[in-house]
Parts: sequence; C-alpha cells; structure tokens
Amino acid sequence: MPISIVIGSQWGDEGKGKVVDLLSQEQFDIVARYQGGANAGHTIVWENDDGTEDEFVLHLVPSGIFHEGVTCVIGNGVVLDPKAVLDEIEKIQQLGFDVEDRLKISHNAHLIMPYHKAIEEAREKERASNTDDDEIGTTGRGIGPAYTDKFARTGIRVVDLLDRDVLRRKLTRAIEAKNQVLKNVYGAEGLDVDRIIDEYVQFDQQIDPYVTDTSEYLNNALDDGRRILAEGAQGSLLDVDFGSYPYVTSSHPTAGGCCTGLGVPPTAVNRVIGIAKAYCTRVGNGPFPTELHNEAGEQLRKVGAEFGATTGRPRRCGWLDLVALRYTCMVNGFNELTVTKLDVLSGFDELKVCVAYRYDGKEAQRFPSEAQTLERVEPVYETLPGWDEDITDVRHFADLPVEAQDYLAFIAEELGVEISMISNGPRRTQIITDMDRTPA
Ligand code: IMP
Repeated sequence: MPISIVIGSQWGDEGKGKVVDLLSQEQFDIVARYQGGANAGHTIVWENDDGTEDEFVLHLVPSGIFHEGVTCVIGNGVVLDPKAVLDEIEKIQQLGFDVEDRLKISHNAHLIMPYHKAIEEAREKERASNTDDDEIGTTGRGIGPAYTDKFARTGIRVVDLLDRDVLRRKLTRAIEAKNQVLKNVYGAEGLDVDRIIDEYVQFDQQIDPYVTDTSEYLNNALDDGRRILAEGAQGSLLDVDFGSYPYVTSSHPTAGGCCTGLGVPPTAVNRVIGIAKAYCTRVGNGPFPTELHNEAGEQLRKVGAEFGATTGRPRRCGWLDLVALRYTCMVNGFNELTVTKLDVLSGFDELKVCVAYRYDGKEAQRFPSEAQTLERVEPVYETLPGWDEDITDVRHFADLPVEAQDYLAFIAEELGVEISMISNGPRRTQIITDMDRTPA
C-alpha cells in the first residue's frame, strides 16, 4: 500500500497538524514524521461533547496520536529532544490517550542536547551583533547545531540513550568539546558535564519502550498493506537546499526528505499533498516578497491569530505568493493542495495575489530562492474581489461566496494543481471536502 505525504508549501505554519489529524482519522493506519524537531508546532483543536473546545500543540509526536487506531512514528530524520518528547508523551497520556503501544521512535534519530541550544543561542547573539550579518531568527530548539553534529558524524543517537556506559562516554567527550567552543569562540559560559550526564542517563528506561528500527517497521507495514501518511514539519520554503538560504531550517521538509527521513523507497510514494495557507506568513528573518507592513497585514495577523505555536512570536503576514507556490509545486510534485485559513480572508474589499516578480528590470515567473535576489524582487499583483460573509460554517464548496470560489479557482488554475480540501476554521469540523461547484 503506497505512502502519502503532507508537506507545507510555504514558510511553515500552514495548518499541517489539523490536516494530518483529519486524514489519519479516516484514511491512514500510520502517521510518520520525517524531519525537524521540537521547532515544529502542530496545533490540533477539538470540540468536546459538552461543546467546549480543547487545543493541543504537538512538537514531536506525529499528529495522528489522537486517533486510537493510528500508530505514530518518529523517523530517523527527526532530531529528538528526549526531554521534550517525554514531556509531550506525559501530557498526551494525561488526556487519556494510550501512547506506549502506539508510538515508535527510530533508534537512528539524532538527539538534541542542552549544548545544541546553548551554541545556537550564542551563534544567534553573535550574528545579531555583527553589522554584516543578521540572526536567522531560529526557534532556539537546538535544531541547526544538532543536524551539524549529525553530518559531522559526532552526534549522539537515540540508540545511545539505551546504554548508560556508552552515553556517559559519548556525552563527556561531546560536552567537553562543546564547552571549548562556547567559551573560546563565543565567550559564553560552559555547561556542567556531570549535571547533564546525571539527567540524561535516567532517560534510558523511559525511552526504551518506544525505540525500534522504524525503517524496518514501515517497510513491513507497507508489505502488509497498511496505509502510511508521512508528516512533514516546517515548510518547503524553509528547506535547507530549496529555501532562502541561510534563512532556512536545517532539514528537508520537501518531498525528498520523506524517503531519507523514514527509510522508505520513493517508489512507495504515490500521493503528495501540499498545504497552503490562503495568504502567506513567515516567522524569523529572511526575504518575504509579499509581506505587508500596513493595516491589511495587521488584519491578517489579528484575525488569523498569527503568533508562533512554538515560540509565541508574531508572524509576519502578507498576500498569497503564487510564484513561490509554483516553485514548491515543482520541487515537491504536489498532486493536490489543501488551502487553509480561507475564513481569515473574509472582510477584505479586495485580495491581492502575487503572480510574478519584477527584478533586474524584467518580469519573471521564476522563484529565485537565493536570499540576495529574493530580497530585492518586487511582487506583481493581480487583484481579485473579496467577500464579507463569515464562512466558518460553510461545509460545501458551492455554498462559499462566489468571490471565494473564484479566488480558489484562480489559485488552482495558476498552479495547475487541484484543490482537494479547504479548511475554514481551527476545529476539526471546519473543513470542506465536497468540492463540487454546482449547488446541490
Ligand atoms: P530553526 O528550525 O529553529 O533552526 O529555525 C530556522 C528558521 O525556520 C527560522 O526562521 C524559524 O522561525 C523557522 N521555523 C522553524 N520551525 C518552524 C515552524 O514550525 N514553523 C514556521 N517557521 C519555522
């Protein structure tokens, strides 16, 4: 049975968590996260029987965990903060969900350690104080330094947590080396070796029940005909190769990351679902051609509650960028798109959509991912009529205001990709899957 992938098509925060939660309820047996770490914040909102609402922000555990029949996998491509994942597991268990039998963590995933966060903080401070440089605006979760160690072949992996002697040896060496860097390169405080070791050796028994060879598990599941949904974190425009480097994350949210991050063959993937917000947001620094520094931007931030789910930072807001979306459609090969937060656009007289960029005196359709060029492009907009109606209770495409239907039709036509689902509110029920344009 083939694999489907859910991928953010912009700069993250597209609403992937809600889509994965919904899809996994009906269509999948396994949800497998393939990259990133606790920098992600996947928000799930549900309505209780008494009409009250609950919300949970998942950082590491895949977004299928709230459905009892679904097994969740944290793949080898994820960088795992053991403390963060154990805290998250505890909170999910407190809500009454079984996690122990339903969560599997790759023995090969690399660990995030306190020194990764300390080095990231020191690096960001240094960049901020350097006039030729700019901090990335990272989430402070140690992601970049952990992937650096992975590729430098000095990382510590989940499997190492299970052997106290090995862990003690590797950690001692690593902390001593990182303390040299912290003190001598950044002039920062070193970390207490014994305190970290005492804390981390305790994790072996807690993490042990979850650890397995997840690549083997997933490939066996494929042989058994089980349905797998691969869950990406962040967004394609933050990909370390395809995003606006260096203002990117240190992993591959794009489709290719699924195969290396889970150990599954590309021939097993047959559906790639792009998630696109009906407008654009970005957190952290880096070029953002359609960013709005005006009332419209404020309205998007306010109505869309655009504040980071992990860091609480206000998100930068702007109009939908089809040049960027065409590029991420190309890189990922989306077969379909889910458009989220369409309800946030209610109340605008008109909506702008960026259809081309102007740079070097010419109009171009190409997305220049290199930050230097992207910084100076000027968006070319098409203006479409807006709508006033509150659409949060609409459940069929045909019941949307005609302007909203036209807005979506314009996006689909420009991108040449079908829109298969629309999200029009944070709750699970606020979703449109009946895409028939003819009224019933
Ligand atoms: P890092 O992933 O913490 O290293 O941060 C690198 C860049 O990616 C920063 O601009 C972050 O704001 C951004 N970023 C990381 N994770 C997310 C996410 O889940 N949503 C949106 N932006 C993210």
